[in-house]
Amino acid sequence: MKEFYYPYLNKYLQFYQFSIENSEDFWSIQANILPWFKKWDKVLESNGNFHKWFIGGLLNASYVCLDQHVINNFNKDKIAYYYENELGETKSVSYYQLYLMVNNLATRLKDLGVNKGDVILIYMPLNIEAIVSMLAVARLGAIHNVVFSGFSKNSILDRIIDSKAKYIITTTHTYRKGKIIDLKSNIDFIINEYKDIKNVILFDRKKDYKIDNLDPKYIVIDNLDGYNYIDPVIVESNEPLFVLYTSGTTGKPKGIVHSTGGYLVYVANTLKWGFNLGYDSIWWCTADIGWITGHSYVVYAPLTLGVSSFIYEGAPDYPDPSKWWALIEKYKITEFYTSPTALRMFMRYPLEYIKKHNLSSLRVLGSVGEPINPEVWVWYFENIGNSVCPIIDTWWQTETGGFMIAPFMGIIPLKPGFASLPFPGVVVDVVDENGSSLNANEKGFLVIKKPWPGLMKTILNDEEKYNQIYWSKFKGWYCPGDYAIKDENGYIQLLGRADEVIKIAGHRIGTFEVESAILENHKVAEAAVVGVPDEIKGEVINAFVVLKQEFNHLKDNVNIHNEIKQTVRDVMGPVVIIDKIFIVDKLPKTRSGKIMRRLLKAVLLGKELGDTTTLEDEASIEEVKHAYQELKQSLNK
Ligand code: WT7
Repeated sequence: MKEFYYPYLNKYLQFYQFSIENSEDFWSIQANILPWFKKWDKVLESNGNFHKWFIGGLLNASYVCLDQHVINNFNKDKIAYYYENELGETKSVSYYQLYLMVNNLATRLKDLGVNKGDVILIYMPLNIEAIVSMLAVARLGAIHNVVFSGFSKNSILDRIIDSKAKYIITTTHTYRKGKIIDLKSNIDFIINEYKDIKNVILFDRKKDYKIDNLDPKYIVIDNLDGYNYIDPVIVESNEPLFVLYTSGTTGKPKGIVHSTGGYLVYVANTLKWGFNLGYDSIWWCTADIGWITGHSYVVYAPLTLGVSSFIYEGAPDYPDPSKWWALIEKYKITEFYTSPTALRMFMRYPLEYIKKHNLSSLRVLGSVGEPINPEVWVWYFENIGNSVCPIIDTWWQTETGGFMIAPFMGIIPLKPGFASLPFPGVVVDVVDENGSSLNANEKGFLVIKKPWPGLMKTILNDEEKYNQIYWSKFKGWYCPGDYAIKDENGYIQLLGRADEVIKIAGHRIGTFEVESAILENHKVAEAAVVGVPDEIKGEVINAFVVLKQEFNHLKDNVNIHNEIKQTVRDVMGPVVIIDKIFIVDKLPKTRSGKIMRRLLKAVLLGKELGDTTTLEDEASIEEVKHAYQELKQSLNK
C-alpha cells in the first residue's frame, strides 16, 4: 500500500494529551460549536455514573440545525438534503425550505397539544419528511422516538408502551426492491391496541396507495407548504432530545436517552474530526434514521455543521448492484460513510459495476457498525477510494452518541482492520476480567475511563439497568461490551461483542428478543439462538428449537422451519431473518437453568470444546461435556 505522509501526528498527540488532562476546558472550547442562547454555568457535574454536561446552557436543537443558518443568510439557500428514491423521484431542499417545513409541522403539532417533554413516535422511511418530523418535535422541546420502518407492529407497540408516546408521525408506505411496503396498517394496529394515542400525523404520499377506513385519530397531510413560524422552545442542555431503542442480552430493547447540549456538541465535533467536511462537501451517510447512525450523522451533525447531505430511500443493489455507485457519480458525493456488510455484499459482484462509474468526487470514506475485515478495508480503499481516499473506521455505539475511536482525518496513519486511536477527550483501555491493563496484542475488554458529552443520559425508566449493564463490571468505567486488542502503538482493533448480542448487517439484535419471538409460535416449547459468522452479513442467526410434545411428530417436517421463520418475521419485522433452525430434543443448560449458548455455538462451528472453564461460568466441566455430546448426537441424527 502507498505510504502517506503524516506531518501533524506529533502535534495531534499533544492536542490529545491536552484534551484528556484538561478535559473540562477542552470540552468547554468545543462546545462553542453550537449557537447557545445562554452559555453553561458549569461544564460537567457527575453523580455516580450519571453525568451532566454544560449545566445551565440553553439551546434548541432545531434552532441549532436550521435557524442559525437561515438567520444570518449565510447558508440560507444552501441545499440541506438531496433526496432520491427507488422510483427515481428526486427532491432537494435548502436550509431555508427545510426550516419552513419544520416550522409548519411544529405548528400543527403544537395545535394538537404537543408540549415540551412529550414523547412522539416517528415511524417513517428515510426521506425528507422523516427528518422534518424529527426536527419539528425537537423545535417544541419534545422527545422523538424513531422506530425503524423495517420493524414490526409488535416492536412499535413495545416501544410505545415503554416510552408512553401519545402521538405518532408516520406515512402510508415506502418502496423496497420494487415492492410497496405498507406502513400505515401497522399504525392501524397500534391505534387499536393502545388507546392512549391522541393523534397520528399521516403523510399521504399519494402515489400507489389509496387511504381508506381512516380512524378519526389520523390527521392527513400531503404537503408542508406555507409559512407558520413558531418559536423554538428553549431547553436546558441536559433535557432529553430523543429516546432510541436498542437491544441488549436480556429483556426487551432498552430506551437509550440522549441529552440535547452534550449530544449536539459531541456529534458535530466528531463529524468534523472524522471526515473533515468542507463547505462544498456533499456528504452521504447511508444509514437509516431508524438507527443512531442516522440520528447523529444523517440529521444532527451535518445540519449543525451546515453541510449538504444526500439521502436515498431504497435498497443498495436494486435494480442492480451499480445503484450506489451511480448515485455517487450523479450527486458528486465527496464523503461516503457505510457499513462493512454493504461492502461485503458489493464485493461479490464483478468490478464492472463500479468501474463504469466515475467516483473521482470522493475524498474520504468511512465504515461503521461492526469490525471491517482487512481484506474488505483494502477492497474499499482500492476500488471505491481509488487508492487515495482515507478510510475512517469509526467505532461507537447507540449509547456513545458519536464516534469514539477513529482515525482523526488526515492526521492519524491508517491501519486496515484497526479503528486506530481514541478521539480527543476519550480515554480508552483494554483490560482483563479484573480491570488490569493488558499488554500489547492481548485480547480483553474495551473500557472507557472518562465521561464524554455524547454519553447517553440513562436508560428510559430504568436507572438500575443503566448502572448494571454499563458500569458494574468495572466500577467507574464505562463498559461497552466489546472485545478488543491494543497494538504496540496503542492502536485499537475491535474483535466483536463480548456478550450475546448478535450483529446482523451491523444491526444489533438481542438473543433474548429473538428467542421470545420464536416462542410466539404455539408449537414451540423452548428456543435458543446464537450468532454464527457469515461472509456477507458479519453474523447470521441460527436457532435451536424444542417443539412441544404434541407437535414432536413434525420434527422432521421442513415446513415447521419455514413456519418458525415466518413467526419471527411477523413478530420482529423483516429485518430479523433466521438463517438455520435445528429442531432438538432438549437444550443444554447449566444447573441453574441458563442456556449454554456458547456451547451451541461451539457445536455449530465444529469447534472442539477445549477450555471448558471459559465456556460457561456457571456450569461444571462434566455438565458441559455431557451437553456437548448430547447435542452433537442429536444434530447427527
Ligand atoms: C456495537 C454498537 C455505532 C453505530 C452503529 C452500531 C459494533 C460499531 C464498529 C466498528 C467494530 C463496531 C460494536 C459496538 N461496532 N462500530 N467500527 N468496529 N465494531 O450501533 O447498534 O449501538 O452497536 O457495534 O460491537 O458495541 P449499535
